[in-house]
Amino acid sequence: LASLKIRLKTSLRQFPDFPSPGILFEDILPIFANPSLHEALLRALELHVQQTYSAENKPDVIVGLEARGFLFGPSLALRLGAAFVPVRKQGKLPGPCETVGYKKEYGEDFFQMQSDGIKPGQKVLVVDDIIATGGTAAAAGSLIKKLGGNLLGYIFILELDFLQGRAKLDAPVYTLLSSQEEK
Ligand code: PRP
Ligand code: MG
Repeated sequence: LASLKIRLKTSLRQFPDFPSPGILFEDILPIFANPSLHEALLRALELHVQQTYSAENKPDVIVGLEARGFLFGPSLALRLGAAFVPVRKQGKLPGPCETVGYKKEYGEDFFQMQSDGIKPGQKVLVVDDIIATGGTAAAAGSLIKKLGGNLLGYIFILELDFLQGRAKLDAPVYTLLSSQEEK
């Protein structure tokens, strides 16, 4: 795991002042451009879930957050034998939906889930690429609770720990990389 973390960390690229001035954008896309790194990422996340949750407590549903949570949420769900359900930005999902507003590191938005996406009592894990201020992940958590889901926790590739986003979340958080670990 230590060598995977180094490979992941060194593959991230930083773009200053994107998408707005003062933001240092962490680009995770090089991971997915490298098949062996992509595979190793999925394997590490799969193992984490298998080691954290016993057979009777394993997640029923992986919820991925638009858009970058869609890059690996479905693959992880498939490996775990879980359903994949998306959280999308407002206006993209058909039929009855739940909606919540949220603030993130750079701007405000609305998130939605289809009302039948999660059945009451289903065990749910949320996946996304990065936790910054935590606004995005907290909004997803409140959608899952509105639908009666049992929120087991959150999985991220990278945590920008100086923004203390974790404090906004009321379920366990697992991240492979933290911005504190220097390259
Ligand atoms: C980014 C990132 C996380 C979120 C983290 O998504 O992918 O989802 O911001 O920020 P927060 O912790 O401060 O809420 P973004 O909204 O830029 O959109 P994208 O995933 O659709 O590219
Ligand atoms: Mg995102």
